[in-house]
This record gives sequence, structure tokens and C-alpha cells, in this order.
Amino acid sequence: MKKVLSIVGARPNFIKIAPLDKAFRKYRKEVKHLICHTGQHFDNAMSSVFFEELGLPKPDFYLGVGSGSHAAQTAKIMLELEKVLEIEQPDMIIVPGDVNSTLASALVASKMGIPIAHIEAGLRSFDRTMPEEINRIVTDVVSDLLFVSEHSGIRNLRDEGIEENRIYFVGNIMIDSLEEHYEIIESNPVVSTMGLERDQYILATFHRPNNVDDNKSLADLLKCLTRLAEKRPVVFPVHPRTRNNIQTFGLNVNLHPNLILTEPLGYIEFLSLMRYAELVVTDSGGIQEETTYLGVQCITVRKNTERPVTIDVGTNQLVGTDLERVEKVALEILSGNTKAGRIPELWDGKTAKRITEIIVDYLAKK
Ligand code: UD1
Ligand code: UDP
Repeated sequence: MKKVLSIVGARPNFIKIAPLDKAFRKYRKEVKHLICHTGQHFDNAMSSVFFEELGLPKPDFYLGVGSGSHAAQTAKIMLELEKVLEIEQPDMIIVPGDVNSTLASALVASKMGIPIAHIEAGLRSFDRTMPEEINRIVTDVVSDLLFVSEHSGIRNLRDEGIEENRIYFVGNIMIDSLEEHYEIIESNPVVSTMGLERDQYILATFHRPNNVDDNKSLADLLKCLTRLAEKRPVVFPVHPRTRNNIQTFGLNVNLHPNLILTEPLGYIEFLSLMRYAELVVTDSGGIQEETTYLGVQCITVRKNTERPVTIDVGTNQLVGTDLERVEKVALEILSGNTKAGRIPELWDGKTAKRITEIIVDYLAKK
């Protein structure tokens, strides 16, 4: 019996690991799949709600590291995870995404000689001022199996000299979660309970340090959303980083009755709001992909994206951080000038199946 340990820490990680845990159940005689939660995200609305809604079992290990500077958070995860790995001696660890929990776990396992599988490998924004870009590059270098969600990832890994036999194009595992829950997402009543009309509102999320850690940038962003709220209701579930900064800077959020701020929402309600939105305005990574899958218009308020397929093939538009331009493109979309999109290759709900097949095969040969 082989032992595989998935390590998760932040909201998008939970969504990526849920389908994998289900797919491993088919192999329960060959593989014991365990989950370690680092505690990077810890609020119920950022963590336990996803375990409940996505049918994830309670984590087998909880490191409880919480927040901190990059060095402090990464170091705490490394120290705590090392103890778990020493006792458990897994045959492989799996890390999704690009958060500090991903990097810290990959570093510890690589020094202990434990094989590493990285889900969402190869994505690059080519912007090393983003902490996620450092996390991606380092994690990929030390990983043994690199599971890639879009073609750009294959090119990037080749360009960095990664051997071909470590790279696997498997599609996008976030879409597995979305496909699996599609019916309950479609029938969730959140749109009407919030007093909204389908295709007549905007959904917004912001949490990138570049947009929300600076007083003026965040104030300008709120003003931009206020101007959009004059055209359509804007629903803005506020990430804890953004919430904390709004409080620290003392910003007024009661700017317009149609600018509706909420706590971070659970997966089903949030995806239901996304499904029926006329437009999504965001700086999230995962939301660029989900809107492309759903065919919903998306404006990404960033200078770059590590997910170019959402621009080349999908409904996403990368508009930069000039908020006048954001407003202009948003108004064009609201007036019907929308961007057509397709679903990228292998975003088909079967990514977890492909990944588990490859891992089981890899472990059998070891
Ligand atoms: C992290 C990831 C980012 C990812 C995002 C997903 C890194 C470097 N960043 O950013 O790539 O896009 O998660 O949401 O790993 N906080 C709470 N409650 C929580 C979690 C956070 O109050 O449950 C607050 C803390 O004050 C903390 C701040 O939010 O200081 C930021 O949390 P942190 O995990 O460091 O980074 P995120 O901005 O969430
Ligand atoms: N999400 C959610 N509730 C919210 C905001 C986001 O369930 O209030 C989901 C979103 O649909 C996506 C994931 O969380 O599946 C993305 O997380 P986030 O934007 O925090 O991280 P990123 O993808 O930018 O790393």
C-alpha cells in the first residue's frame, strides 16, 4: 500500500484537491490518500466551508500556521510539515497551485527525497514581483511530476529546461469541481435571495497586494466599483486581506446602495453568482479560469496573467490597473460589446482521473 499526502493551505487549494481525493477512492486498495492543511487560511469562510461543500474529509493533519510575513509563514509551514513527513514517510506529496503552502511543502519534501507532484505546474506571469511567481518557479524546479492545465505551461517548462518526461498535460482540475457541482450551482437561489436579476449585475473580487495593500489604490478601486454600481448592482465578497486593509486605511465602503459588500462566500453561492453574472471584475487567478469555462465576461485588473489561455481562447480581458480603462471596458461589455470564448482543451472534468492514473502508475514502478 502506497501513501500519498496532499498539502493544502489556501482557499483555491481546497477546490483543486477535492476532485483528486474523490478520484483516489477508486484506488483505495493501492493508495492511501491523506490530506494536510497548513492553516494558511483559517477563517471558516476561507477554509472549512470548502471542506463541507466539496465533500472533503477532515484533514488528517492540521499545522495551524496562520498568517505572517512571507518568510515567517513559509518557515513555520516547513518546520511543522517536516515533523509530519518524518513520522508518515509518504511515498509522494501532492501540492496544488502557487501559494506559500505550496512552496514550503515542496522545499521540505525535496530535501527529504520524497517525490513531489505539482498540480497547475508551468504557469508563468513573468512578473517576479508577485510572490506567486517565485512560488511557481521554485516548486516546478523541485517537482517530479508536473501536471499542466494549459499549453502555455508546457512551453514555459520546456523553456526552463525541465525534462520532457516530467511534464504531463492533464487539463484544469478546478473545472472538475465546477462540473461536478454544476447542477446545484445552477439551481442555487442566491441571485434572487440577494434581490438580483440574472445577467443584470456585476460580481467583483480583489485580493492582490498590488491592488489592495496601498491606501490610494484600494480607495480608487472602491470608487471605480461605485461608478459601476450606478449602472448595475455590484456584488463584492471581500477577501480578508482586503477587509483588513479597508479597516486599517479607514475607507468608507457605504458609497452607493448598489455596491454590495459581503463576507467571502462559500463555493456554491459564489459560483452561482458567477454563473449568472453579466460581468466579473477580478484580480483572482482561479476566477479567470472559471469565467472562461462558464462563458461569462471577465475583466482582469492586473498587468499580466499566468493563465493566457483565458485571454487567447476564453472570455477574459486583461485590462491592466488603470481604473479608467477598467471602467471603459466594463461599460462596453454592459452595452453588449462582449467577447466570445471557447472552453480550453482538456477542461473537461476528467483532470483528477488523469492525474491519479499517472500517479498510481508512477508509484507502481518505484
Ligand atoms: C494567498 C496567496 C495568494 C492566493 C490567495 C487566495 C500567498 C503568498 N498568497 O493570499 O497567492 O491568491 O491566498 O485567496 O500564498 N487572513 C484572515 N483570515 C484567513 C486568511 C487570511 O484574516 O483565513 C488575513 C490575514 O490577516 C493575512 C492576510 O489575510 O495577513 C493575507 O493572508 P495570506 O494567506 O498571507 O495571503 P492571501 O492574501 O490570502
Ligand atoms: N471563491 C469563493 N468565494 C469567494 C471568492 C472566491 O468560493 O468569495 C472561489 C473562486 O470561485 C475560485 C477560488 O475561490 O474557485 C479562487 O480563490 P482566490 O481568488 O482567493 O485565489 P486565486 O485563484 O487568486 O489564487
